[in-house]
Amino acid sequence: MRIFKLLVAIGLIGATVLAITAARTIPASDKKESVVVPESKPSASNGKAIYDEHCLKCHGETGSGEGEDAKKFKNEMKDFNDQTFMRKESPAEFFDKVKKGDKPMPAFKDDLTDQEMWDVVFYIWTFQNKDDLLAQGRQSYDEKCSKCHGASGDGKGPEAGDLEEEPSDFTDLKQMLSNTSNDMFEAITDGEKDEGMPAFKKKLSKGERWNVINHIWTFVYED
Ligand code: HEC
Ligand code: HEC
Repeated sequence: MRIFKLLVAIGLIGATVLAITAARTIPASDKKESVVVPESKPSASNGKAIYDEHCLKCHGETGSGEGEDAKKFKNEMKDFNDQTFMRKESPAEFFDKVKKGDKPMPAFKDDLTDQEMWDVVFYIWTFQNKDDLLAQGRQSYDEKCSKCHGASGDGKGPEAGDLEEEPSDFTDLKQMLSNTSNDMFEAITDGEKDEGMPAFKKKLSKGERWNVINHIWTFVYED
């Protein structure tokens, strides 16, 4: 009997260790079988119409969770203007939430198509944009990044051919949908020298790095 209990205990510990390692090694977005890469670029303006109809009543006009129907669970609401929150999320994680829901957030898989869910996710993404800062990001990008990553973000800039690795293609939806602003910030700050990506820690201020990231996201969706 004792041995049996011991075996059960060892089994439980083993399972826990396995679960913890799995959670650490598999990026959250890769586990989500619900995520379907859209056929065409998501449209933020189409997303706004969907947002106004289905989401505004809880998430509110400004996206900070001030909608009428959200009063009951005010403390649980997320603020889409909160950059610390937004920068650690990927569009794929948002898509998964919208599709499957997460109580009290309702599931939309029966009400919206995959394309419509991407559209609304990218409308939410635009809450991070401030027009003048986005213009600044574009300027830094054109001056410092486009020669490798291409003016349209496709990774085919004039200097791309001279590098060990191909510069990332920011129009590649499959790659970008599970990317996060925080991950990009790290790559831009420290560079990936062996691959040919320079570090911009000293060449762009922190603010300029965040603005350039918001510009990079505009390669993924349409207005
Ligand atoms: C009945 C109110 C309600 C409606 C309607 C609603 N939401 Fe939510 N939503 C919530 C609540 C509450 C949360 C916070 C709980 C959570 O994060 O899981 C949330 C969280 C989210 C999140 C953040 C998920 C995360 O990573 O934490 C996203 C994205 C989101 N909603 C998108 C939408 C979209 C898009 C729509 C419309 C298609 C919508 N919601 C409609 C209540 C609602
Ligand atoms: C000299 C060429 C070059 C320049 C200039 C350059 N990059 Fe890169 N960048 C690369 C290469 C090559 C990679 C691919 C590295 C790899 O494969 O791991 C890369 C990778 C990246 C990544 C990581 C990939 C990802 O999807 O997260 C980001 C983000 C990035 N670059 C942003 C920028 C930004 C922003 C600028 C301008 C401020 C810039 N790069 C300028 C060559 C360049």
